[in-house]
Amino acid sequence: MKLKVLMVAVAAGALLSAGAVSAQDTAALMKSKGCLSCHDVEAKKMGPSYKELSAKYASDKGAVARIVEAQKTGKGHMKVNATDDELKAMVESALSHK
Ligand code: HEC
Repeated sequence: MKLKVLMVAVAAGALLSAGAVSAQDTAALMKSKGCLSCHDVEAKKMGPSYKELSAKYASDKGAVARIVEAQKTGKGHMKVNATDDELKAMVESALSHK
């Protein structure tokens, strides 16, 4: 019985780590992909602050998908070399500073 519970827990853990990128991973990614050299949460740097962008796109449901596409293709944003899941997690995080 105990073994069965353990196996279910392990399986659930594997499912979680396969799909979405965790908040901790996202923070590390944004550092390693260089987002923070051009963006700051509060202050305008080369790019707009995440606070400003979060306000701008607060009611724009398509913003994340559009910006991910821009970063993937390099049209409308500089190209960012990351997987779709990673890009989505980073853009969602950038736009979450309400
Ligand atoms: C080389 C500098 C640079 C890097 C690196 C960079 N950005 Fe940007 N980013 C910009 C600039 C400049 C703009 C404003 C572009 C514009 O409005 O045309 C921008 C715009 C954005 C926007 C708003 C896009 C829009 O359509 O309004 C988001 C969100 C964003 N960046 C997120 C990120 C994330 C997440 C990363 C890391 C994966 C990243 N940026 C890396 C310079 C950069």
